[in-house]
Amino acid sequence: MRTLWSHGEERPAEVLAEEWGASFAFDARLLPYDVRGSIAHARMLGATGIITPEESARIVAGLEEILREWEADPTVPVTEYEDVHTYVEARLTEKIGETARKLHTARSRNDQVALDARLFVKDAAGEVREGIRHFQRVLVERAEELADVILPGYTHLQHAQPVSLGHHLMAYFWMIERDYARFGGVIDRADWMPLGAGALAGTTFPIDRQQVARELGFSRVAPNSLDAVSDRDFIIEFVSASALLMVHLSRLCEELILWTSREFGFCRLDDAFTTGSSMMPQKRNPDLAELIRGKSGRVTGSLVSLLMMVKGLPLAYNKDMQEDKEPLFDAADTVRGCLKVMAAMIQTARFNRDRLAAATRGDFSTATDLADYLVRKGLPFRDAHDVSRRIVMACLEQGRALEDLSLDELRSYSPLFEEDALLEVSPERSAARRTSEGGTAPERVREQIAQARELLGGV
Ligand code: ARG
Repeated sequence: MRTLWSHGEERPAEVLAEEWGASFAFDARLLPYDVRGSIAHARMLGATGIITPEESARIVAGLEEILREWEADPTVPVTEYEDVHTYVEARLTEKIGETARKLHTARSRNDQVALDARLFVKDAAGEVREGIRHFQRVLVERAEELADVILPGYTHLQHAQPVSLGHHLMAYFWMIERDYARFGGVIDRADWMPLGAGALAGTTFPIDRQQVARELGFSRVAPNSLDAVSDRDFIIEFVSASALLMVHLSRLCEELILWTSREFGFCRLDDAFTTGSSMMPQKRNPDLAELIRGKSGRVTGSLVSLLMMVKGLPLAYNKDMQEDKEPLFDAADTVRGCLKVMAAMIQTARFNRDRLAAATRGDFSTATDLADYLVRKGLPFRDAHDVSRRIVMACLEQGRALEDLSLDELRSYSPLFEEDALLEVSPERSAARRTSEGGTAPERVREQIAQARELLGGV
């Protein structure tokens, strides 16, 4: 293997150690960031007179060529080099000769890798935010269409009170709105330019870090060289925000899995997102929803790996930190992919309005409404709750539903019940009356949707 310091024949032990120490197999994808960082560095070296303007121009031209080649064909010879930084410098030497050896002046791979990772995280977080926005648009559209459809709202997975399906979907909109904000915070804190920290202590050369930061689109320069090369908190934050987003997606997936079961029958996923069984012809397995649910564990695993990786590290750089790449890349790929699948799955899901309507019939989910009715007639809530509870118990004993009760029967529990009490057992009415701010009444849901559309820029 070609390292930056190798000379002469290698012993088997060296070969083994180098193979195990190498990261090129997985950090090759940092190449565009590495080259961009090197171009900015080379320009700065030229501008400050650390190398000549001609040397700087040759280096920049060579690096630009490497970038163009990579854009045309991103396959790289992954076994031959220790890491992406080694590879880029070797490639540059092939192209421009000895001058390439000046590029690494006033720089170390320690600040270089920190820079590459920060550039990667900023881009990846931006892409995740786009993915979230896309999924949010889908949620808003479906919620609008389904605002008037009522289903049982659950607590403890027991029927609780009727809610609007649009309201239910919008709950996810707001969850991932906070994820969107979290990824914004990730970008802010990844936005510290580490280059110029050198190996750990800065450099003896008159570098201009502000110039490099400007050229690379960073809004500030990392103020402490030790911190700049040592911490990976921006990666941990990215993966943490990813894990939380995945947990949100996983919960929705779990609901889809339940809702598409025969017992619920609330919804049918597009065939594209289900699979059959090689043995059981009737099966429509919600594989993709299950996969997203499964992958949420994988991203959480990456978060734990990263936290454990840094927890005992003395300052400054330690090789342990090379282990940050795979969890980071894996989380980025997983989250971006899952957002796409999730959006498409919700966009194409078909909801069974008959099953949804049937689910709230005879389920006692309007028992609270009966109690609220009595409260409006002046009964204290605790007493009203007791009356309603006794009615439910009696119905359960007799195998009847609230909808079956006559006014006379209701009045036998409380003389406060009048003709209009019979309306209270309607799930649609129950939901429609929950007009408190943020409540499930379809008119309120439409307000939320309007608010959401505004956040999305009026789309
Ligand atoms: N491949 C290394 C990493 O990902 C680059 C930094 C190497 N620095 C060093 N001093 N060995 O962490």
